[in-house]
Amino acid sequence: MNIHGRQFRTIWPDATNTSVNILDQIQLPHALSILNITSLIAMVHAIKTMQVRGAPLIGASAAYGIALAMNEDNTDSGLASAAKALNASRPTAVNLRWAIDRMLARLLPLPASQRKAAAWQEAGVICEEDVLQNKRLGEHGLILLQNLVVKKSGTLHILTHCNAGWLATVDWGTALAPIYAAYDTGVDIHVWVDETRPRNQGASLTAWELGQHGVPHTVITDNAGGHLMQHGQVDCVIVGADRVSRSGDVCNKIGTYLKALAAFDNHVPFYAAVPSPTIDWGISDALREIPIEERSADEVAWIQGRLPSGELAQVNVLPAGTQAVNPAFDVTPARLVTGIITEHGVFSPSQLHQLSQRQGLTT
Ligand code: MRU
Repeated sequence: MNIHGRQFRTIWPDATNTSVNILDQIQLPHALSILNITSLIAMVHAIKTMQVRGAPLIGASAAYGIALAMNEDNTDSGLASAAKALNASRPTAVNLRWAIDRMLARLLPLPASQRKAAAWQEAGVICEEDVLQNKRLGEHGLILLQNLVVKKSGTLHILTHCNAGWLATVDWGTALAPIYAAYDTGVDIHVWVDETRPRNQGASLTAWELGQHGVPHTVITDNAGGHLMQHGQVDCVIVGADRVSRSGDVCNKIGTYLKALAAFDNHVPFYAAVPSPTIDWGISDALREIPIEERSADEVAWIQGRLPSGELAQVNVLPAGTQAVNPAFDVTPARLVTGIITEHGVFSPSQLHQLSQRQGLTT
């Protein structure tokens, strides 16, 4: 993606394979800050604190976390403890486990002396695949949006939740990939951006991304979507996902379920844009089986923003002593999902198994 004319990805290794650069997402949209990550511990910290975030980017970061660990200790036990630390960093996005398992499968059979080079190479391949998957996913989503445009006159209004743009992946994004593709081909498009409390990934990250690309958008409060749908102002909802079950249940940022319910009630199509590593073929009952990350209550109590002076500040919005809980994700049942947009095409939840069969994956 271009920022002020400069090509960026969200993560890239240095030339000597000793460290990894990331865009520090905690600083956005107020500052574009590149962080140099030099150790496994620093990568675990970056994932936990959400300096890097979004399911595909968490996976890519974990892969580079393993590569960093191979610089430190390339023995079997070094590999096992790196995998354990990374696996524990965030529980919901299956891309994390997927990337770690893939790195282990590549590295464990090798003699220790070959692991470092192989790890950096494999992490790079995972990143390249992510870019390609999201680009293809965007092309399939574009056809879907073009078909929606044919059915109506005027601007196509799409609602999205959280940030599933290029910041959440290595490049292109998932939910935003079809939107960028549509905008770039001249489709008259406008995006409703849910602010996405408590961390405001919509207001801070999605709005920033869309603004950089020039895509018309408007930030709304998390509770406004249903009202807009009732008044015919939303043509389609597209969200990303942290994990999709084999039956097409979509686990995504908290609040997604309520958008899906409102979309269903108002006959607005609801899509999840999902590269294949986000599908957990081993899960059938998403509500029972997907671990939902419980984050700190401080994220509910404190909001980060910029003061009129330009200084960044945190303000507390709760009365002293008030309890808060902070489940970070929810599950939208497949019955509310119109389709899953993947790099292989768009599937209804009931057709999703065709994808696993086509890829020879286990169900
Ligand atoms: O807690 P976050 O910011 O990592 O949550 C991100 C989301 O919920 C995204 O929608 C999801 O990871 C898909 S990203 C392409």
